[in-house]
Amino acid sequence: MIAVVGSLNMDLVIKTETIPRPGETVLGTDFNKIAGGKGGNQAAAAARLGSQVVMIGAVGSDDLGEELIHSLDNAGVRTDYIFKKHETVTGIAGIMVERSGNNAIAVVSGANYALSVEDVEKHHFVIDQATVLLVQLEIPLLTVQKALLIAKKAGCLTVLNPAPAACLDSDVLKNIDILTPNEIELELLSGCSTGSMEEIHRAGTHLLDKGVRQLIVTLGEKGCVSINRDGMIHYPARKVAVVDTTAAGDCFNGALAVSLSEGNPIEEAIQFATTASALSVTKLGAQTSLPTRKEVDAFKL
Ligand code: RIB
Repeated sequence: MIAVVGSLNMDLVIKTETIPRPGETVLGTDFNKIAGGKGGNQAAAAARLGSQVVMIGAVGSDDLGEELIHSLDNAGVRTDYIFKKHETVTGIAGIMVERSGNNAIAVVSGANYALSVEDVEKHHFVIDQATVLLVQLEIPLLTVQKALLIAKKAGCLTVLNPAPAACLDSDVLKNIDILTPNEIELELLSGCSTGSMEEIHRAGTHLLDKGVRQLIVTLGEKGCVSINRDGMIHYPARKVAVVDTTAAGDCFNGALAVSLSEGNPIEEAIQFATTASALSVTKLGAQTSLPTRKEVDAFKL
């Protein structure tokens, strides 16, 4: 079983020819309201790929919160531990997607920031039963820290997707089995530049020295690299027609957790995640773009 402790947002998605520069107004071509949030997306990705998934998260007691829970229910995620926080509203993300598939995202956290250490502590049994814990950084850092601690005590494999980027001290890093930053997040976490493969290796090694056991650095169309004490391995991306890159990283993390929870070696898990995330960029939106197991298996051939 996979436990996800993380965020839920309703994504308000506008398609444009190009993302406007500061001070510029552009006309959009399309508007959609799509279930998102890095935690919800990773949970939905894992469930659609066939895993049993339980999510701990928070929404406001409003219609958007209901819609987000409904979307996760439909994906097959257990939503009993998604709490309704009456004092606040459901998280929102404003997303612009340009024709190239690139996006710009701004999040108003709302209820996600009310997901407390106590919420996780009280429901530790969800994490205790899991083989893999997936966490991101759209909820309070103390809550993330508590979830990692519970997971490590229970002997559960921990995967932290450090998005959006934030500084993490060794107390957090030492409880992470697999850290999955992109280049920008790696630069911020390590304080080292990440402009070349050599620099990425150096930055990753710096985090290994601080206690992380393994890194998988996602590089967009360049694929990803895994970094551990044995060195660095590059995995190229699959070639696809890009529609929208939103949630590609979330799909990668969800799929990685699925394959690892099935007991597959890390190399195989990375290949599986690479294929799943390639499929996710061929469709618009976050939870609307996540592939099924059947689609991934067919694309692998
Ligand atoms: O990773 C994509 C997600 O980031 C979106 O769904 C949005 O809600 C933000 O959390």
